[in-house]
Amino acid sequence: MSNIRPETMERITTPELAQAFIDEQISLVQQQVKDGKVLLALSGGVDSSVVAALLVKALGKNLVCVHVNHGLLRKGEPEQVIQVFRNEMDANLVYVDATDRFLDALASVDDPEEKRKIIGKIFVDVFDEEASKLEDIHFLAQGTIYPDILESDGVKAHHNVGGLPEDMEMELVEPLKFLYKDEVRVVGKQLGLPDQMVYRQPFPGPGLGVRCVGAITRDRLEALREADAIVREEIGKLPETPWQYFCVIPDFESTGIKDGKRYMGWSVIIRAVDTVDAVTATVPEIPFSTLTTIRDRIIGNVDGVNRVLWDLSEKPISTIEYE
Ligand code: XMP
Repeated sequence: MSNIRPETMERITTPELAQAFIDEQISLVQQQVKDGKVLLALSGGVDSSVVAALLVKALGKNLVCVHVNHGLLRKGEPEQVIQVFRNEMDANLVYVDATDRFLDALASVDDPEEKRKIIGKIFVDVFDEEASKLEDIHFLAQGTIYPDILESDGVKAHHNVGGLPEDMEMELVEPLKFLYKDEVRVVGKQLGLPDQMVYRQPFPGPGLGVRCVGAITRDRLEALREADAIVREEIGKLPETPWQYFCVIPDFESTGIKDGKRYMGWSVIIRAVDTVDAVTATVPEIPFSTLTTIRDRIIGNVDGVNRVLWDLSEKPISTIEYE
């Protein structure tokens, strides 16, 4: 099938157009798959979530979603995937908590590329193992969208962890492959997904792994996850939120003082950027009161952190992520 978006395809901007797209895709997928079973790696990102919500409507329990928790997800994310897909949509969801496997393999690894490689490889291994436990699956669904096709030979961009096992001989099901991101969101809304999922900020496939700078330790990763939830909650209250906002935890300690005694603790760096295409990025103003609220909440609640910093660096020269 062609990988060029048909010229006649109208841009999906309204709930009505989204519904027409959903109805059409349901019927196309049913024709393609018939009574077969379809496997989907469901990360909880916008694209895979929209595919899951669409396919569960088309195929019911014949869609098998596998959610691999690599231990590097943000606070509440695996729980939300389970709540939305298993509890609310009654989807066939296999949840694999592979946290120990990932974190054990990452212990003492401080090279960013090596970290990415390990995360990608274990992801494929875990997914492969889960797939091999299932019988009679001949179709693989993917959240490929049109920019993936335009930018990278029709596979999900190299950034995504889920390069899937190459030896899986399955026919692809890619209902979003002609959609742009904004259209995917309109379709996701129409499918009833929560705003938190539909308008989710971009989040790297290797997750918090690239924001826990250097060799990941469980305690520093946990501090990052807690601090990140605070940063996202407080900046998320602003009338206009930046394009991407999160925090980073570097692998050095600095002096703090508590109960009259000096001690060493971690720093947390607030990173917020505005951009159109992530190729360049600027740093938006954030009200000082928001910054101090974040500081107080992090210092007061996140174990091991004794310093909060704000990153003012633009891209170029600084990349958005730290690794
Ligand atoms: P940089 O750090 O290159 O980031 O300025 C640009 C955008 O890409 C995201 N990013 C990633 N996304 N896997 C991903 O899926 C990755 O390894 C990765 N590294 C960076 C980053 O969050 C930003 O939006």
